[in-house]
Amino acid sequence: MRIGTDYYPEHWEKERWSTDLSLMHEAGIQVVRIGEFDWALYEPRENEYHFAWMDDILDFMAAHDMKVVLGTPSATPPKWMADKYGEELYQTDIHGNPKIFGTRKHYCFNSSMYREKNRILVEKIAERYGSHPALEGWQIDNELGWANTTRCYCSKCRKKFQEYLKEKYQTIDCLNETYGTVFWSQTYNSFEEVIIPQAGACYDSCHDTQGQNPSLLLDFYRFSSDSVISFMNEQAEIIRRYSSLPVTTNMLDAAVNSGTGIDYFKMSKELDYVTWDNYIEFQWGIAEDAAVSRDHALLRSYKHQPFWVMEEQAGPCGWSKLGPAPSPGKLRLWTYQAVAGGADTVVYFRWRSCLFGTEEYWHGILGHDGKVNRRYEEIKKTGLEMKRLSGIFGKLMPRVQVAIVKSFDSEWSHSIHRHVEGFEYDRLLLDYYRSFYELGIPVDFVAPEEDLSAYKLVLAPALLMVNEEQKQNLTRYAQQGGNLLFTFRSGIKTMDNTMLPETVPGMFSDLAGIKVPDYDPQFQKKTTVSGVFGQSTASLWCDIIEPEQADVLGVYTGDYYAGSPCFTRNSCGMGSVYYMGCDLEQASMKNLAAYFCTALELCRPAYVQDKVERVSVTDGRKNAEFLLNHNGCAVVVPVERECTDFLTGRKIRKEIRLDPWDVALLG
Ligand code: GAL
Repeated sequence: MRIGTDYYPEHWEKERWSTDLSLMHEAGIQVVRIGEFDWALYEPRENEYHFAWMDDILDFMAAHDMKVVLGTPSATPPKWMADKYGEELYQTDIHGNPKIFGTRKHYCFNSSMYREKNRILVEKIAERYGSHPALEGWQIDNELGWANTTRCYCSKCRKKFQEYLKEKYQTIDCLNETYGTVFWSQTYNSFEEVIIPQAGACYDSCHDTQGQNPSLLLDFYRFSSDSVISFMNEQAEIIRRYSSLPVTTNMLDAAVNSGTGIDYFKMSKELDYVTWDNYIEFQWGIAEDAAVSRDHALLRSYKHQPFWVMEEQAGPCGWSKLGPAPSPGKLRLWTYQAVAGGADTVVYFRWRSCLFGTEEYWHGILGHDGKVNRRYEEIKKTGLEMKRLSGIFGKLMPRVQVAIVKSFDSEWSHSIHRHVEGFEYDRLLLDYYRSFYELGIPVDFVAPEEDLSAYKLVLAPALLMVNEEQKQNLTRYAQQGGNLLFTFRSGIKTMDNTMLPETVPGMFSDLAGIKVPDYDPQFQKKTTVSGVFGQSTASLWCDIIEPEQADVLGVYTGDYYAGSPCFTRNSCGMGSVYYMGCDLEQASMKNLAAYFCTALELCRPAYVQDKVERVSVTDGRKNAEFLLNHNGCAVVVPVERECTDFLTGRKIRKEIRLDPWDVALLG
């Protein structure tokens, strides 16, 4: 495990570089990511290429013993290209307006002009630097999908989308039938007629309705995700021709960006390792510690291997306004939270705060003055600790027995038609994640078709749709002894985003041993429930369950369905299938997690306390446990057995005191 920083040497005088590098070394920084926005420096005018400036940087890094991840600069096409190619380059937004020059990420993933220009530049970069001694890896583009850029509504995309549909459906009749275009006279006579689902007559962003055909929308979302992945793959493939070094890209968090619209499971298959950008307290909000932990869990789950944080918050940040300065201890705490979640490299954004440009307020490790400060000292402490820990442990990953199924098809379908006011797929997944997190139980995420046999419990909240292979996979898991949970809004749709003509929960009815002939969306109402999770209230959805073979573990206690089951368990082969028909308050969610702990004998710490994250980790040979104090006050945590805190070398007996935002690694 180690730390790094995002470095922009081209923003500073060369005379400053050696000061920067010696400060980095002193702080234990072992890797820098550079170059991801520099197209205009590589190619200031069309077909005029300059590399001397990057040669200097990379040679300097090699001479100063610093490893480099080099970005491809496709996130920022230069001005000459915008001027010359205009429409051919730009994305078009949902209302039909081009995204003009001035910020970044305004290019269309399906622009053949842009792809061609980009291929040429990436090839030159890869050829020149593919085996440079400073290099240790590649980052493609920057935050693909950032700020609603995955879905573009231009004429280039419309044409590509029509080709995609033709390939998928073969005949227009098949598309018409699948989409049900008989509804509202939407029948198409040819693929060339099919629209790209822009904001139409019924579009109303305030009331969350797009109005377009849901099957068309889901296909368009899949197509858009595939377009981004193909844009990325094209670059990866060129790089791999010239370089044997690993290729990655930096993903976005789910908390702020549950809508990147890219299937990260699919994208990750193409990458050698995955990374993400972790901003916790900034202009656009403050992430709860459980949500950050969930994001780390997502990242380790995309490839089921250690990941990097490619941009970790290093100071107060925001563009036009700032979020708070991270209190002393938080940078270190956030770093170890990432390591506890499976990160093996944490790269801070950015080395020094920039003097100009959109991000002139965004603080890096050093301030604008370039002098060492308390943030630098804290990162230095962390960097040196991690150097020492690397001598003791290999790459650490949490020891996991529980997984949550995450389906991008379901996520996108839920975003098209939300079922009821207040419902959000990602929030429901987070609610389940949090209930285990608070008990000190790590949780992975899995795609519905993945091998699930490593987990004692698999939760599939609101898994709207599955294909035959995914259904078989889930069935096999339960029959072979797994414990599977579905919730309301599971199994009721086809993969085409149409409704199944079956009683809820449709595809999972037999597995769950129940039928749901009636349900009550909780619009401006709440219903009381009671069960193995205690007394609670549903405020989103109530499935009124009729058990066929299933046992009842919870019932509604209010409304016209008082006495009807809300939570059931069915035996299925050697395993069990649970069905939760409603949402619960957070305290009851935690009780539910505790119920599973007891029923399934899940490993958990004997003692947990509020906002003290406990993560049991292993490097495959040695086990240890992180204690992360997310409280702004000191806490005393009882410890079951005598152990050592590897961060301080202290012997711990009976209890450990953690300062505000402090961390221990016990083993
Ligand atoms: C990230 C991005 C960086 C930088 C940072 C601060 O989203 O990848 O390039 O912009 O935010 O805004």
